[in-house]
Amino acid sequence: MRYVIGLDTSTTGSKALLIDADGQVAGSSVTPHALMVTDPQWSEQDPADWWDATRQSIQKVLSVTSVPASAVRTVGLTGQMHGLVILGSNGRVLRPAMLWNDGRSQAQCEAIRDVVGLQRLVAITGNDAFAGFTAPKLLWVRDHEPAVYEQVAQVLLPKDYIRYRLTGGFATDKAGAGGTLLLDLAARGWSGELMETLSIPSGWLPPTFEGPEVTGLVSGAGARATGLCAGTPVVAGGGDQAAQAVGVGAITPDVWTLTLGTSGVVFAPCTKPLQDAAGRAHAFPHAMPDRWHMMGVMLSAAGSLAWYHDTFCGRHSYSELLDEAGAIAPGADGLMFLPYLTGERTPHADPLATGAFVGLTRMHGRGHMTRAILEGVAFGLRDNLLLLQDTGLAAPREVRISGGGARSPLWRQILADVLQVELKAVRVTEGAALGAALLAGVSAGFWSSVEEACEEVVSTRGTTRPGPHSDVYKDRHRRFASLYECLKPFYHAERYFAG
Ligand code: XUL
Repeated sequence: MRYVIGLDTSTTGSKALLIDADGQVAGSSVTPHALMVTDPQWSEQDPADWWDATRQSIQKVLSVTSVPASAVRTVGLTGQMHGLVILGSNGRVLRPAMLWNDGRSQAQCEAIRDVVGLQRLVAITGNDAFAGFTAPKLLWVRDHEPAVYEQVAQVLLPKDYIRYRLTGGFATDKAGAGGTLLLDLAARGWSGELMETLSIPSGWLPPTFEGPEVTGLVSGAGARATGLCAGTPVVAGGGDQAAQAVGVGAITPDVWTLTLGTSGVVFAPCTKPLQDAAGRAHAFPHAMPDRWHMMGVMLSAAGSLAWYHDTFCGRHSYSELLDEAGAIAPGADGLMFLPYLTGERTPHADPLATGAFVGLTRMHGRGHMTRAILEGVAFGLRDNLLLLQDTGLAAPREVRISGGGARSPLWRQILADVLQVELKAVRVTEGAALGAALLAGVSAGFWSSVEEACEEVVSTRGTTRPGPHSDVYKDRHRRFASLYECLKPFYHAERYFAG
C-alpha cells in the first residue's frame, strides 16, 4: 500500500494524519501543546513545542497503524495562519512565536496604513492591516524589541517552521503567504513594493509554492527525529483555512465552508483574486493553483466554549454542558454572550474588544450561559456571512460545516437557524490535516488534480436545515450587532493592556 501524511500545526495541538491512495484514513494522532498568554492581547507559543508534538504524532501514527515509513510517499503541511516565527542567521528561534490571535500590533497596522495607504494596500494584498497578520507583528518586534529585530535572518509561518525542521529548507505556500500582508494577491508572489515601503528585506521571506508542489525532501536529521524516511518529498500544503476547505471539498465558488475551530470562519472560494474595496474581509490565494478565496474570521468561536469549559466547568463534560444548553429555549431567556475574548478580527477589526455576558439575572443558570455562548458565536458567524454577502459574492449552492464545534448537533442547529442556511456535514472530519494530505496525494500521483482528489475522497452526509426559530434569532442578532457599538467606548477607555 501507498500512503501520504498530512501534518497540522494547529493552535491546540499537532496532528499527523495518515491516508492511503484511496483517501481512506489509516490513522491519526494529535499531541497537544501549550499556549502562553501573559497579557490579554498576547498569544504566543514555543516553536520547539510544535516540533516535539509533531515528532510524537508522526511516530505514534506510524506505530499504531504499523505502516512502514517507506510506504509514506509524500508529506503535506498545514497549520495556524499568520503566526510570526523569526530565526537568526544560525537558524535559532529568536523569540516565542506570535500567533494569529495576538492583538498587540494595532499601532503597527495604523502605521502600515499611513505609509502605504489603505487603497494601495488593498489593491496589492486584497486586505487591510489586521493586528493578527504577520507583517504588523514583525514591525511590533522592530518597535519594541530592536535587539531581537537586528538579529532576524528568516521569517516563517508556524507550519513552515515544521518544514524547516523536517527538510532543513525554507519555503511556504501561497495561501499562508497571503496571510502575512506582504503578498501580491493577483500575482501570487511577494510584493517587492510593500517590502521596500516597509523596509522588510526580501531575503527574510521564503520562496512561495502552490499547495501540491514539492518544496524539499525530509533530511537525515528530520528522518531521525520523526521516523520518516530521508528523501521523502514534502509539499507546500496550505494555511489551515485553505487546507480545511480542500479537506471538505470547497474549491469552487458554489461551495462555501463554515468552520468552528478555535476561530470561526466563513470561507468562499473564488476563481479570480476578488477583494473588498475597503478591505473588510480577507482575500488570499487558495491552496491550489488559479484559485483564491475570501473569508471572514472571528477569533474565538469554539475557543469561547473551550475557555468557558476549562475555566468554570472542568468537572463537567462538554456533552453535559451541551445537554443543559439544549434544554434552554432559543434566545437563552435574554442572556447574550459577546465572543470577543481575544478581541475581534472581522467584521469589527478591534483587538481591544473583550468578551461579555449581557443581560444576566438571578434566573440564569449554567445551561443559559452555555446556550448564550453557542448563540453568540453563531451571531458572530452571521456577521461574517453578511459581510461576505455584502462584498458582492454570489450566494453559494451549498455550505459545508466542519471543525470540532460542528460535532454538536445542537450547535449545528443553532447555526442553521441563526445563519438561515442549510449546513452539510462531511463524512471524514479530519479538517485541515486531510486537506494537507490530499495536496500531498496529488503530488504523489494518487490523484491527477486537487479537483479529482476532492471528487473521489470528499462526500457529505446529513443536512441541518433552518428550524422554526428564525424570527427569535433575527431579533436577537440585531441586538447582538448593536452591543458591540454600545460597548466600544468602554473597550477603548479601558486600556489596561500592556500592548
Ligand atoms: C485565519 C486565522 C485562523 C487561524 C487558526 O485567518 O487567523 O483561522 O488560521 O488556526
